[in-house]
This record gives sequence, structure tokens and C-alpha cells, in this order.
Amino acid sequence: MPIGPIVRLRPEHLNQLEALLAGNDLPAEDCAEQGDNFYGIFDQDELIAAGGLEAAADYSLLRSIVVKPHYRGRGLGRAIAEFLLEQARSQGRVAVYLLTETAAEYFEKMGFSHVARAHVPAAIASTRQFSSLCPDSASCLMTDLPRDCPRLTEPR
Ligand SMILES: CC(C)(COP(=O)(O)OP(=O)(O)OC[C@H]1O[C@@H](n2cnc3c(N)ncnc32)[C@H](O)[C@@H]1OP(=O)(O)O)[C@@H](O)C(=O)NCCC(=O)NCCS
Repeated sequence: MPIGPIVRLRPEHLNQLEALLAGNDLPAEDCAEQGDNFYGIFDQDELIAAGGLEAAADYSLLRSIVVKPHYRGRGLGRAIAEFLLEQARSQGRVAVYLLTETAAEYFEKMGFSHVARAHVPAAIASTRQFSSLCPDSASCLMTDLPRDCPRLTEPR
């Protein structure tokens, strides 16, 4: 059976989402309060990839991008990240920020650049991911969402 499309996660998927994040060393503590901000890809009933987009004033926080190890290297992570960037753009956000401990290079290939935490907008800095859940050692990256540019990167 083929892997499914990207879908918005529902409350009944919360346990699977939390397990997927925790099993890959990503914070899961605030998933319940973030409600319908998460999207995922299923293989039948199994959540195999996920990602979230948290709105913060004019900006969005891209978070919780995760793919089950067995399904990596097939473009699922990139597909979810690009889907969420498009969501942020369509919602009128001007830039997207993220924190990562292990995948800075991965997001740089998608057009993100490193930014000092001191230069992060207050709305982003006050999210739980920034203020408490992600360790201070995590790298911070951002990308602008120019209105006149339909894609950030060329499709592979
Ligand atoms: C990072 C992650 C989401 C990538 O998912 P994926 O579906 O395997 O990625 P894609 O198939 O879209 O891209 C694969 C490419 O990215 C590269 N890549 C994968 N993880 C990488 C990482 N951590 N750093 C740098 N490059 C990475 C692969 O080498 C591959 O490169 P290639 O196309 O030149 O062969 C996945 O490895 C993961 O879930 N990691 C654990 C959670 C995490 O760190 N999330 C990011 C923080 S929110």
C-alpha cells in the first residue's frame, strides 16, 4: 500500500505523535496544547513522519520535523518542511524560525540561515520551544518568506 499524503493530525493521533518525537529525542511536552498545528504522513495507520508550525505574530516556528528511521532518505522530511513553509507563506507570515540540535545542515540546504538567538523576534523567543523545551545548545535558523517568490528551493 502506498504511503499517504500529508494530513493534519487529529487529537486521536497525539499519542503516536508524542511517541515519534520522544523516540527521536525531540521535545513532545507541549504537543497537546499545540492542538491542530501538526501535520503528518501515515503508512496505513502508522504515523511515519510529522512536523508542526506554530504561529507567533508575523512569524512562524517550524518545529518537530521528524521521520521514522526506516522511512528516511525518501524526501518525506523535506516534503513536510516545504508544505509547512507554504502554509506559513499563505498565512501571511514574513519569516520562519526553527531550532535544531542535529539537523542545521539539513535545513541550510532548504534555504535556512543561522541566526543568533539575540536577533530572534520576541514573539518567537517566547514560544515554549524557545524559552524552555529546546536546550540552549540548539542552533537557531531562519528563512524569510518573500512574497514574490513562489518556492524557496528548486524541487529535487
Ligand atoms: C532530519 C530528518 C527529518 C530528515 O528526514 P528525511 O526524510 O530522511 O530527509 P529527506 O529524505 O527529506 O532528505 C534526505 C537528505 O537529507 C540529508 N540529511 C538527513 N538528515 C540530516 C541531518 N541531520 N543533517 C544533515 N543532512 C541530513 C540526507 O543525507 C539526505 O541527503 P541527500 O539528499 O544529499 O542524500 C530525519 O533525519 C529525522 O527525523 N531526524 C531526527 C529528528 C530531527 O533531528 N529533526 C530536525 C529538528 S526539528
